[in-house]
Amino acid sequence: MENLKTAKIINGKEIAAQVRAELKSEIEELKNKTGTTPGLTVVLVGENPASVVYVRNKIKACEEVGIKSVQHKLPETTTHAELLALIRELNASKDVHGILVQLPLPKQIDEEEILEEISPSKDVDGFHPYNVGRLMIGNPVLQPCTPYGVMRLIESTGVDLSGKDAVVVGRSNIVGKPMAMMLLRRNATVTVCHSKTKDLAERIKKADILVAAIGRAEFIKGEWVKEGAVVIDVGMNRSQDGKLVGDVDFEGASERASFITPVPGGVGPMTIAMLLKNTVEAARRSK
Ligand code: GUN
Repeated sequence: MENLKTAKIINGKEIAAQVRAELKSEIEELKNKTGTTPGLTVVLVGENPASVVYVRNKIKACEEVGIKSVQHKLPETTTHAELLALIRELNASKDVHGILVQLPLPKQIDEEEILEEISPSKDVDGFHPYNVGRLMIGNPVLQPCTPYGVMRLIESTGVDLSGKDAVVVGRSNIVGKPMAMMLLRRNATVTVCHSKTKDLAERIKKADILVAAIGRAEFIKGEWVKEGAVVIDVGMNRSQDGKLVGDVDFEGASERASFITPVPGGVGPMTIAMLLKNTVEAARRSK
């Protein structure tokens, strides 16, 4: 007799579709009330294959919900000054509500300086120090898309975060750090773990909420997962046999968690959905 408990799957594809549906009607309303169509400009420098795919998907998603998107494809040899000049032009354009510079940028470009040049009110990635600071003081404006999407997934479970132990594995500026701030804002007790953390397994075993953003295939073992935990897997890795897998051993973790995100179909679809949401928010605020 099988007697294994199985976690409920958090369906990111479905929740992302819900977000897009909400946005469609918000966009309609914005158009009717103000005559404004939200506009997103995506800047791609070079031809990093992953970036090319990401940018294509972002543009496609815009079309689907009624956001006007413009793409700037610049050569790999673009100088820092040239990119800076484009950003300034986009900052000044009334039709551009959101500016997204796809990362990573070529070596000759100072990424930090470019991100700081984007007007905070058009910073739909939420990477500008102003928006980072606003999130840190607990009064966010535009929030980084992936952790913002993770919060929406956690909300969908109905689990109250207040007083819970949340463990974030990974400390990047794009995911780990903002994730910690968002969980803290919901009154979780947050631990941020990283490559130098001692006793990682012991810390993970205490997590009521586990967010994995490490970038190593199935690094987190099922037996590390606390009974009843909510497990969010931000990882997207190729396993040795070529399968797309997360940072968590999904099968093992499913026997212990109460809720878990699959890979693919969990966090992935949320990132672009929240980018669209930020673009609509930026357009609304511009009015
Ligand atoms: N490269 C990888 N992830 C991201 C992201 O969320 N935004 C941008 N602009 N570039 C990325």
